Amino acid sequence: MNIIQYKKAVEKLNLYAYHYYVLDDAITTDDAYDKLYHRVLDFEEKNSNKILSNSPTQRVGDSVSDGFIKAQHLSRMWSLEDVFDNEGLHAWLKKTYKLDEQISFYCEPKFDGASLNLIYKDGELSQGITRGDGEIGELITQNVKTIRSIPLTIEYKECIEIRGEVVIFKKEFEKINQARVKNDETVFANPRNAAAGSLRQLDSSITASRNLIFLPYGVGENLLEHKLLSQKMEYIYSLGFRKPPQSAICKDINDIQKIYDVMNKERDNYPMMLDGMVVKVNEIASQIDMGYTVKNPRFSVAYKFPAVEKITTVKEIILQVGRTGAVTPVAIVEPTNIDGVVVERATLHNFDEIDRKDIRINDKVIILRSGDVIPKIIKVLTYERNGSEAKYERPKACPICKSELLDEGVLLKCQNLKCEARVINSIIYFASKPCLNIDGLGNKIVEALFNSGLVKSVVDLFDLTLDKLLKLEGFKEKKSQNLLNSLEDAKGSEYWRFINSLGIEHVGEVASKTLSENFGSNFIDVTKEEIIACDGLGEEMAESILEFVRVNKETILKLQYILKPLEPNKKEEAKENPFKDKTAVLTGTMSESREAIKELLESLGAKVSGSVSKKTDFLVYGEDAGSKYDKAVSLGIECLTESQMREKIE
Ligand code: IVH
Repeated sequence: MNIIQYKKAVEKLNLYAYHYYVLDDAITTDDAYDKLYHRVLDFEEKNSNKILSNSPTQRVGDSVSDGFIKAQHLSRMWSLEDVFDNEGLHAWLKKTYKLDEQISFYCEPKFDGASLNLIYKDGELSQGITRGDGEIGELITQNVKTIRSIPLTIEYKECIEIRGEVVIFKKEFEKINQARVKNDETVFANPRNAAAGSLRQLDSSITASRNLIFLPYGVGENLLEHKLLSQKMEYIYSLGFRKPPQSAICKDINDIQKIYDVMNKERDNYPMMLDGMVVKVNEIASQIDMGYTVKNPRFSVAYKFPAVEKITTVKEIILQVGRTGAVTPVAIVEPTNIDGVVVERATLHNFDEIDRKDIRINDKVIILRSGDVIPKIIKVLTYERNGSEAKYERPKACPICKSELLDEGVLLKCQNLKCEARVINSIIYFASKPCLNIDGLGNKIVEALFNSGLVKSVVDLFDLTLDKLLKLEGFKEKKSQNLLNSLEDAKGSEYWRFINSLGIEHVGEVASKTLSENFGSNFIDVTKEEIIACDGLGEEMAESILEFVRVNKETILKLQYILKPLEPNKKEEAKENPFKDKTAVLTGTMSESREAIKELLESLGAKVSGSVSKKTDFLVYGEDAGSKYDKAVSLGIECLTESQMREKIE
């Protein structure tokens, strides 16, 4: 690679990254990106004096600092006045109209993260500063450079401060917390804390690993001459920043309220947390005229969404027993209205969570409800304790059948297969959507059938008759007949559904499909080795399957006889050829789609897997092959071009 090719490669990588991180619309594969990235890295290692400041290699978090030094914002970072309802908004608008009647409003979500000021000089990112007290913050430039939605260089060459919110997407937040639980670290209470904490890491590789996102919402010091804020923001986005998922220009209070209602209703569907909508006067000249109070700009207001967090008291901790026997604790809390829904219980996940958060009965806690998820306790207000709080003792016996519980540390388990809760929940699971999908067999009906004594196991479901059902309270003719029809419809289902419905521990929908494809009804006779040889099935699963079959073989056969699930199409045995019974991985661009090449190899009896491992026999590669190729070479796996593959077939 020469210097011209290097410059082009950096440009190309930045274009790829812009599409991926800013536009959310990838235009290349990870493989192709990685390969080019490594060529750039190679060049830079040999030419360290020629490294471009906007090279993506300059984002790697490899700096560790002793502490952050303070830095001054070029112009103050203000905060916003809050309003909480239409009345508050009305009062704010009245004040604003008094200052200027000829105005419109620019509305966008209020992101719940950490605010950040970026100073660009001569088109280069020169400083990243936290908000601090609004005048002085902490200098975190090295960390900021790891955030891929922040351009390292921009085409605008005057000095400018670009301000925005650093957020963590909700999905990413869950992942980070799961990893923290595994590593015995305290979890972040919410994505806002996680974002702020991640920004202020002394080791920038930690910041880099957190997938932070920067969403610009305004500018500080600047020489831009746009007349409208909306135009100014469009210009900022065009410099390579991410657009907010929604924005609108409104002419009056009705418009503003409408867009607020939509955002509030949709807030759970956004990938990041929102805590309100920001309303800003759109005309810059009017903004300047209106000026600031001691704390806030007069031209802008935060119209907050109703709280999703509330303080309540833990009254009791009850236990639920699932179909696998796992006992999960649930907190019963003082009924609390959160955004129109009365919350009475909060999930506690497991017993470790109670210990980790030191949740006691009578504790005051903060609970969070968002969307459809079950409310959870995010913080215990220990400073509110008055001595009346009682520590929770781990149970020793199943709350339902009273048999002794197996203590697995994080999990407690009821081992009694006949435990009423286990039986009822396994019938509910058997009938659920990803299993046999039996309509009309929800929780209440299953409980009623079980309590009547008619159904003590899933097999009994198929002995139900109209006569028997009509004798039960609440079962009229239509409801009963519908249930019988649904049970009849469950017959002849796909085979994987049958496997899934058995509720084998560790075996979910994906594993059921794999088992079904590979073995069909022979899955009850396979060995551990045969199971492990399947893509995606591991040792823990294999042991669980074998144990389940050992204990339940008779029931499985009986159910199979009743349900007659369809055997998956068996593939014809392929003739002898170099690919038969071998595992191949495909990478790069070939003359036909990967799907077509995959089918070709499968017709020869090969298994095509997505990732390279020691089990891989061949790697077939096309143009722009990336890291899979490197890995295969390093493992000494035979690598074939598409034409070499075809020659081998012939
Ligand atoms: S405009 C005058 N717009 O909310 C301050 N702020 O309570 C300019 N925030 O410190 C703020 N989303 O960190 C603005 N779309 C948005 C925002 C937003 C989140 C944060 C920001 C600010 C705080 C004010």
